[in-house]
Amino acid sequence: MKNLIDIRDLSTEEIRQLIEKANDIIAHPETYREKCRYKKLATLFFEPSTRTRLSFEAAMYELGGQVIGFSEAASSSAAKGESVADTVRTVSCYADIIAMRHPKEGAPLVASMAATVPVINAGDGGHNHPTQTLTDLLTIVREKGRLDNLTVGFCGDLKFGRTVHSLIAALSRYDNVKFVLVSPEELKLPSYIKKEILQAKHMQYVQTTDLESVIPELDILYMTRVQRERFFNEEDYLRLKDSYILTPDKLAGAKKDMAILHPLPRVNEISTTVDSDPRAVYFKQVLNGKFIRMALILKLLEVE
Ligand code: NCD
Repeated sequence: MKNLIDIRDLSTEEIRQLIEKANDIIAHPETYREKCRYKKLATLFFEPSTRTRLSFEAAMYELGGQVIGFSEAASSSAAKGESVADTVRTVSCYADIIAMRHPKEGAPLVASMAATVPVINAGDGGHNHPTQTLTDLLTIVREKGRLDNLTVGFCGDLKFGRTVHSLIAALSRYDNVKFVLVSPEELKLPSYIKKEILQAKHMQYVQTTDLESVIPELDILYMTRVQRERFFNEEDYLRLKDSYILTPDKLAGAKKDMAILHPLPRVNEISTTVDSDPRAVYFKQVLNGKFIRMALILKLLEVE
């Protein structure tokens, strides 16, 4: 495998190996300090990012490699009208591997067809975000010890939330995973995902607008931000943005060992008073993201 565009580009065995590698990096970071010496990562971010871009960059530095790139379309030749294909053909001359985020669905796939080095999708519009999914899977394994036999609640913007789409695709490979989809009517999971993944794989799922009624069943609660930048009008965003706000009160009925994940950034959907609850693992999740990206870079560069 040369690129990571969709989480389904990885086999279940490859995901297991990446998680195992990330756990080994966490246990023995010193072994990895020179692994990517003289290698360069390019981060091409046509959309805002804090964690994804900086964790890729930190990952490459911790492997002994170097980083080049840009963090907004306005500072690249995209502003002059250059195509994504020409941009990556150019960057392939300078870097050994590329991580790209783009507001248009499918742009990283187009990039991977033009590039001569591996391309990683770091988020494409409201579509997919496979490296966040690897981060989420590592977090679930480290917190729960398994990826099967789980009831997973997804809450918030399930329509535009690309991290939700990729994580559902990944978790639908494991036995006895049940999905509880909590969102306002307007922000329900797209029907193509229900058809192509949940129904095609005969997964158990329920849809509801009421978080409190389902919270007691959950092993994982995956909260998400309402994706303002994908809305056609501000009024709809303002009406929907505070649909769910997780507070200590609402957690009263939850399992004692439920894990609360969030890809971040958080806006209002988790009260900061939840942060000190031992079930809140979203900042551990951030750290896991760096380690799994280290594992992924090693794999795509075929470094042993
Ligand atoms: C997510 C994204 O960009 O899709 N953030 C991230 O990469 N951790 C989630 C979001 O922006 O809400």
